[in-house]
Amino acid sequence: MKDVIILGIETSCDETSAAVVKNGREVLSNIISSQVDLHAEYGGVVPEIASRRHLELIIPVIDSALSKAGKTLEDVDGVAVTYGPGLVGALLVGVSAAKAISAAIDKPLVKVHHIEGHIAANYIEHPDLEPPYICLVASGGHSHIVLVKDYLDFRILGRTRDDAAGEAFDKIARVLGLGYPGGPAIDKEARLGDPKAIRFPRVNFHDDSFDFSFSGLKTAVINHVNHARQVGETLNIPDICASFQQAVVDVLTDHTIKAAQSENVKTIALAGGVAANSLLRQQLGKKANKAGFRCVYPSPVLCTDNAAMIASAGYYSYLAGEYADMTLNAVPYLQVGEGHKL
Ligand code: KG4
Ligand code: ZN
Repeated sequence: MKDVIILGIETSCDETSAAVVKNGREVLSNIISSQVDLHAEYGGVVPEIASRRHLELIIPVIDSALSKAGKTLEDVDGVAVTYGPGLVGALLVGVSAAKAISAAIDKPLVKVHHIEGHIAANYIEHPDLEPPYICLVASGGHSHIVLVKDYLDFRILGRTRDDAAGEAFDKIARVLGLGYPGGPAIDKEARLGDPKAIRFPRVNFHDDSFDFSFSGLKTAVINHVNHARQVGETLNIPDICASFQQAVVDVLTDHTIKAAQSENVKTIALAGGVAANSLLRQQLGKKANKAGFRCVYPSPVLCTDNAAMIASAGYYSYLAGEYADMTLNAVPYLQVGEGHKL
């Protein structure tokens, strides 16, 4: 069978990324231009700044992805792009570029749900991975437990009822003055702290659901910090980080394993920015193995936003002939369960 070369484009938040991926699994290039420094001084992503920067970077980033892969546009069989969810102005830059390239080279345009992209990062890292499996997707905007029934067939088994896991990391880091993005900073501090120092709440619902809730945990950490500041206690940042991180990881791990036990699967996968968390990888890996599951996760660079994962997800839509047309628009509030199969 002829090789299929997909050009992937991702601009949903604050990374401008383009990648060239062969047959859905082999990354020929994956260029990621992060805007973190631009947004750090504001403590979070400023949408207008993000769109402007995407606009400046998108063509150079695509050019360098092609040249690093040793390909030209003539070698590309299809263009895959994130169309939602994300920031509307940011998404529009990628969608417009993808439409223009697809029209210019007369090759199919494929739309990709950002969360499907995160899940597909596992195909790149684990060439033997095939559905069905359970995937925990935990990022800045999402915390979902997904049953991946087939490459293009997904069912949500659990979701957050309030904040996403990554959002909680970012908010707590902000309260502690650790800067943006919060996840990597808390991960680092936590290594120096005692995860048992403070017992923060773990929320489990009584209706047997696998859903998450992180807003109570967030409030508990903020109350702890405010109380300590009021009585003039010095904050033990590593202990707070380690205890908070342990509470998040306990809930993510337990619910994911329970969900896997409720389905006929042998593998648990991790995806999304929070999947880069060292404790989550270690604890879920250990507990999943103990419970008889294989546990896989992408390398950290493929956990956070990147276009290789979008090209990989897009490859399976391409094979299925699920092409988008020139009416494709950005869908900022694309829900899990809407649009495509997810
Ligand atoms: O998937 P992603 O790059 O963007 C979204 O689609 O949201 O995820 C970004 C999120 C941020 O909230 C960031 O703090 C979190 O992933 N994150 C981490 C780690 N690295 C990134 N959270 C915990 N531990 C990490 N090591
Ligand atoms: Zn993401």
